[in-house]
Amino acid sequence: MASSVLSFAFSVFPNLIVILLFTTANPVLGYYKSIFSFGDSLADTGNVLYSQTDEYVGKLPYGRTYFHRANGRFSDGRVVLDFIAQSVGLPLLPAYLGSSGKDLHQGVNFAVGGGTALDASFFEERKITIPRNASLGVQLEWFKQLLLSLCNPSTGDCHEFLKTSLILMGEIGGNDYNHPFFQGRGLEEIKSFGPGIVNAISSAIKVLIKEGAVTFMVPGNLPIGCSSLYLTQYKSPNKEDYDENGCLRWLNEFSMHHNNLLQKEIDILRELYPHAKIIYADYYNAAMKFFVSPEKFGFKNGALKACCGGEGPYNCNKDVPCGSVDARVCDDPSTYVNWDGVHLTEAAYRFLANVLIEENHQFFFPAAKIIGATTTHHTDEL
Ligand SMILES: *[C@@H]1O[C@H](CO)[C@@H](O)[C@H](O)[C@H]1NC(C)=O
Repeated sequence: MASSVLSFAFSVFPNLIVILLFTTANPVLGYYKSIFSFGDSLADTGNVLYSQTDEYVGKLPYGRTYFHRANGRFSDGRVVLDFIAQSVGLPLLPAYLGSSGKDLHQGVNFAVGGGTALDASFFEERKITIPRNASLGVQLEWFKQLLLSLCNPSTGDCHEFLKTSLILMGEIGGNDYNHPFFQGRGLEEIKSFGPGIVNAISSAIKVLIKEGAVTFMVPGNLPIGCSSLYLTQYKSPNKEDYDENGCLRWLNEFSMHHNNLLQKEIDILRELYPHAKIIYADYYNAAMKFFVSPEKFGFKNGALKACCGGEGPYNCNKDVPCGSVDARVCDDPSTYVNWDGVHLTEAAYRFLANVLIEENHQFFFPAAKIIGATTTHHTDEL
């Protein structure tokens, strides 16, 4: 088993030998002493569940693969953030809203499912419904409040503390588009939100840099044209609307447009703050690897059909969400990319995390490990 996992890993990550050597030469992890994470359901580790206990995400089969219970992650197991934490030798991050009484010196997760980069008022003014008021601005307020209990801002102590933190800024911004798309808004209107969304992300990074943070990882948007939910909602009779992978071209172009805006802004931030390390986490291209050739990476059931959900060409049906009584769930989620129509399986998230670690190991993850599928679950983990 171990050798087949390794040979799989080597086929996916040809530079793995380099990383393993590097890891051996630097056996001491701990390059980062803490992680603070902001974002939405791609990174949530329980915040939605702590604020609304009746959510589907609180029911099996969510969480079944790794945790063997639903713990508020929108997947069958770990999400990208969990793999990053494990790869740098830190514990899995507790969700902020369930963290009272816990020692948070190794970090905490502010990401909330449904969260947006723009404030709730932006959507209210445009009569776009959002599930909860948990924008990046709200998450940043939580962070500022928490910081006062972790370090002493009057002595420069917080700058010292945040210097060894890794900040995961996202994924955030995807819902600013998802909510209006699924409420039937027009493409041009939604596209016009882009600069404001990117500005909100950039402003949050600036605030954190002023507090002393120097290392950021900023994910872009996934290729939404390959998402089961979008494929279902925007199903088209025209073959030309689809690319050779079965994804909707115009929606992938939309994701790329957002990602270009975000990368331009990151370039500006790098010039403004040369001492900071700001990595663009290229979720789009990392994910395109498995959308182009799912079989090559073990996704035998393809990348477009959801493992868990209702009937439909993509196993995705908004009337029968995963976690509801009528939903069907596949036998082996590791053979699927898509978990519940919107979110990805643990196997797909592990793939994304490992690509990011591999692409950035020299600069950002000098001591990081590639995480195998068989990494054991410790009962003290969340
Ligand atoms: C969202 O929450 C923040 C902070 O709790 C509050 O200041 C803001 O007014 C709220 N916005 C809306 C639209 O409810």
